[in-house]
Amino acid sequence: MKRFTAFLLLVSLLVFSLAGCGEKKPSEAPTVTPSEEATPELTATPTPTPTEAPVVNPLDSMTLKDRYKDVFKVGVALPNSVISNASQMEVVKEQFNSMTFENEMKPEALLDREATQKGYPDTKTEPILKFGGIERGLRFAEENGLGVRGHTLCWYSQTPAWFFTVDYQPNSALCSKEVMIARLESYIKQVMTYCQTNHPGLIYAWDVVNEAVDPGTGDANGIRKGKNLWYETIGPEFIQYAFRFARKYSDGTADLYYNDYGCANKRTIIVKVLAPILAEGNIDGIGMQSHLSTGDNIQNTIYKTAKYFASEGYKVQITELDIGVKTLNEDTELIQAMKYKLLFQFMEQAKLNGEIDIDSVTVWGLYDTISWRSKEHPLMYQTFKLNRKMAWYGAMQDPEIKAFEW
Ligand code: XIL
Repeated sequence: MKRFTAFLLLVSLLVFSLAGCGEKKPSEAPTVTPSEEATPELTATPTPTPTEAPVVNPLDSMTLKDRYKDVFKVGVALPNSVISNASQMEVVKEQFNSMTFENEMKPEALLDREATQKGYPDTKTEPILKFGGIERGLRFAEENGLGVRGHTLCWYSQTPAWFFTVDYQPNSALCSKEVMIARLESYIKQVMTYCQTNHPGLIYAWDVVNEAVDPGTGDANGIRKGKNLWYETIGPEFIQYAFRFARKYSDGTADLYYNDYGCANKRTIIVKVLAPILAEGNIDGIGMQSHLSTGDNIQNTIYKTAKYFASEGYKVQITELDIGVKTLNEDTELIQAMKYKLLFQFMEQAKLNGEIDIDSVTVWGLYDTISWRSKEHPLMYQTFKLNRKMAWYGAMQDPEIKAFEW
């Protein structure tokens, strides 16, 4: 409670000092959102007086998934270390209604190297997969009402090099385009069919292709080329093939997504690359990873980009949100919370006013110390004890956090 009082003080100080020193441009002043005005119970926090009892934040008894239940799912990426931790999963099911496997559904985890190699040449165009690593998570999701994002079918990374060679041996030559297209089809067919058969309707979005646009080092159209064995074997059409196969084998219960980072900077290139796929009717949305830092302007990088994708005919999801800070102290934690608040606020408003068709916002991990960016403390919980950070209150759009950008 002491901490919260200090936090309130800090908020006022920061707001006061920033407003005072003129860093806040009038054009970027925070919009007072209808949601804040429309939720009077959230503004009912008693003003502390010196002798008064501790402040109780009414948000403490609420949860993320309930806060946004009429707007979008709130998701979290989970490694198996969390999935197998019963007490942490209690918090997961209390707070979230969507999950993504942080690594276990990636090709390097699903491809059974030994069986595929052993089975060659029968396995030439039919690699063997193993699904043991995702069963526990899928069952948990099913039993507790969480939807699942399928991440990811076709990616240059975390897909083993042996998968691309003629006989699946690491040092052999790369296989032909025809064989690789057949392997891509078989892989997508097997993963989707397994999930749809054993857990019907559970997966509501597939990241069919991940991170295929890289204007810096890509080809003339901005398609990622370097270290991309999909490109090397199939050519730039690998993207189109992946979406074609995903549509072919989908039972229609999931949307098909293209997922990428740094979308603000490459949005027009992404839309250009995806245009033929959209024209074929094989894609539904664009996943914006949103690996951010507190220096990022949420309105410009996230909201405007999402709005642009929406205007081009795509659904949008925030798929891997985390917001890094260099060092974590009360000031930076507050700024981080402001950024979380702005992101949720912009997305909620855009959904409610029909600007952006967005059905989930997912954070990339449960707590800081196991985040892939652990040095930047980018998440809403701090340690395995799952102590809430201000970022959680930000994501809940706590009215005490006066969020604005400059
Ligand atoms: C990351 C995981 O968080 C790490 O544990 C793993 O070592 C590397 O991959 N973009 C993506 C995610 O699409 O799959 C990545 O996840 C983070 C960047």
